Parts: sequence; structure tokens; C-alpha cells
Amino acid sequence: HRHLTGIDGLQPHEIAFLLDEAETWVEANRTHATPDKRLAGLTQINAFFENSTRTLLSFEIAGKRLGADVVNMHAAQSSVKKGETLIDTAMTLNAMRADVIVIRHMSSGAVRLIAGKVDCPVLNAGDGRHEHPTQALLDALTIRRRKGSIAGQRVVICGDLLHSRVARSNILALTALAAEVRVCAPSTLMPPAIERMGVTPFTDFDRALDGADVVMMLRLQNERMDGAYVPSTREYRLRYGLTLERLARAAPDALVMHPGPMNRGVEIDSAVADHARSAITEQVEMGVAVRMACLDVLTRRARGVEGWA
Ligand code: CP
Repeated sequence: HRHLTGIDGLQPHEIAFLLDEAETWVEANRTHATPDKRLAGLTQINAFFENSTRTLLSFEIAGKRLGADVVNMHAAQSSVKKGETLIDTAMTLNAMRADVIVIRHMSSGAVRLIAGKVDCPVLNAGDGRHEHPTQALLDALTIRRRKGSIAGQRVVICGDLLHSRVARSNILALTALAAEVRVCAPSTLMPPAIERMGVTPFTDFDRALDGADVVMMLRLQNERMDGAYVPSTREYRLRYGLTLERLARAAPDALVMHPGPMNRGVEIDSAVADHARSAITEQVEMGVAVRMACLDVLTRRARGVEGWA
């Protein structure tokens, strides 16, 4: 693979390979001891057309840990605001001889479009409702480290599934790695025929939680609703909010996850988000290791190193 545009198209052994590679960076990242500057001399451009805290900063930290020259392009401060098209913007970055481009965009498919136009590897940092592959990899790594394995874990993904690239990438990764995936959403926020992705849909969160090993909560993506019916915050919390009382329905050692940003008191109560069983800050930490692995693996060919497994 030249690019990382999604989990779709990756074989289970390729996903496992990226997780194994990420695992090798966890300790070095924790202690900031990364004398291995294997991306030295490479230019990494992070082009973000949509807001981000975790993904942008962890891609920047990951590139810097590995010695790359990292530059960030925030669309809000760029010539996109003067009417420059996505493709012209991408060709401009290409002409600056970027060695790897990381893109976040509000349109599904925008990252794949750019991948077909530029000369260097492109990594998807989230495109519209389509995919957020490094999020799924960091979530899978967090589950594997906390639970020992992914196969056979009962994972419940609850929230705004209709608009969620995180849910899509996670479903693809977790089913590929043989987890039992349950998805739960109000019927208006449930994608049609989602069971074709190999998951079991629920609209009743209490039933979905029964015996869950992992509970992954998603926020309502109000920026993407496009007229979809959205319950009031109070109604939503009542039916789909993860409270301590609800968490008791899951397995006693169930792991609580959230990709962030959280809306505390809506999809997740603070008592759960800050609970000992919450892996939310660990997810963020794994994000740096996963992005180090992806930047390393995707630039191997350009560096004359053997690439994918
Ligand atoms: N999880 C995630 O993608 O967060 P950001 O939008 O802050 O990058």
C-alpha cells in the first residue's frame, strides 16, 4: 500500500502488522527517548481542513519524534479562504516536495482524491463520514494492550453511527480482528443495512451493554446532521448516555473508551469518563505510537526500506 486512506482494503495481518509496529514505539514515546530519527530529512505536511486537537498534535509529535521536518497547514489560515480548490492546494503542497502528506477534510473521499494526484504517500486523518483509520488503529492497540487480545471481545459502539468515520473504521478493524461488534444508536442515527458490516445493531442501549467487554462511546456530530432528527440533550442522555448505573450492565472489568472530543453529561457522564476503567487518556497516548508507526511504514519505500508485511 502506498497510502493509508482507510482500514477498508487492509488485510487482517496488515492491521496486526501496524499494531505490532506501533507497540515498538509505545515505551520510547512514553519516555521521550527516541534517538532513532529515521524520518530525518523528510518533509511531513499536515493539511487540516477541519478542526482537530488529538489527531493534528499527535501526527505532529509523531513526525518530530522520528526526526521529520513537520509543517502544519490550517485551512482557516490558508489560501483556501481565498477560493483555492482542494486539488490546487494539494498540488501546491506536492510542488513543495512533501515526502508525506497527512490530510483531514470534511468531505468523504477527499483524501483518496488527493492520494491519486500527488507523488508522495498520503495518510487519512479523517475524511467526512468515510474513515479515520489511525483512530481505529489506536483504539485497537488500546484494546489489545488492556485485554490481551481483540478476537472474541464483545465491543459495543454507541452513538451517532450515521455520521461517524470513527465508527466505520473501528467496525472494519475490529471485525477484521475477529471481535464481536455490537452497534447502538437511535434509529434516526443508524446507517441502513449496517448488519452487512458484520455487526449486530441495537436501538436499546441497556440490551446492547449486556456482558460487554469494551464500551466505545461517540458524540453527536452536530456539524454533520444535515437535517437528521436529533433528540434533545436530555432525552439523548436518558436513553444513550453512559452512566455508572448503565456501566454495571457490562462485564465487571469492561473498558470504557471515547475517541474525543467528549460532550460530558451527554453521551458520557464525568463519573464514567474519569473512572478507573476508562482508557480515554491511554487512547490519546496510543495515538502518538500508532502515528509514528504509520509515518514510518508509509515512508519506507521512499527511504529504500522494505515496506508492508
Ligand atoms: N479523535 C479525534 O479525531 O479527535 P480530534 O478531532 O481532536 O483530532
